Amino acid sequence: MPVVLVPGPKVMVQADGDQLEQMLINLLRNAADASLETQSNVKIGWARTAVQLQIWVEDEGAGLSNTANLFVPFFTTKPGGSGIGLVLSRQIAEAHGGSLTLENRKDGRGCVARLCLPLGQAVVSRTDAASPGSPGRSRSKSGFTRSDQPRGTVRS
Ligand SMILES: Nc1ncnc2c1ncn2[C@@H]1O[C@H](COP(=O)(O)OP(=O)(O)OP(=O)(O)O)[C@@H](O)[C@H]1O
Ligand SMILES: [Mg+2]
Repeated sequence: MPVVLVPGPKVMVQADGDQLEQMLINLLRNAADASLETQSNVKIGWARTAVQLQIWVEDEGAGLSNTANLFVPFFTTKPGGSGIGLVLSRQIAEAHGGSLTLENRKDGRGCVARLCLPLGQAVVSRTDAASPGSPGRSRSKSGFTRSDQPRGTVRS
């Protein structure tokens, strides 16, 4: 499965690196699952504005026929899927003061996931973004120690 990296500008964001990695794995896996069905590619890239980093993951799969339940825990259309990937990823994004959307592409078939993260002081709450259904626990290896100071720095 070819994954094409479309490099963007240098940018530094304060975030929990383990959680961001987990989120990107989830999004890339979804894109790869979709693209596998159509024997096509996945692309990932990023851009920045003055105030935010935008990371996008595009596939050329069948796209979404119904967007209603995408971010509902345990919603899955895949045999063997857990239905956790997107909801967990959105929680991670929001815990960093950002957002995550998934929609059909307007420039072709397939979907695009867009992750937006604020640049500057990221806000990471201790609401346990990485562990829906398990309040008080985080799947992050590093974990959070302060509500206003996320650990780690991700450079891209
Ligand atoms: N890129 C995509 N293209 C088409 N449908 C998608 C895409 N990403 C997600 N979906 C749909 O959203 C559903 C939920 O995705 P989510 O990642 O939360 O769970 P999952 O992939 O089914 O299982 P897992 O928890 O193992 O990731 C998927 O089952 C699929 O129907
Ligand atoms: Mg998934």
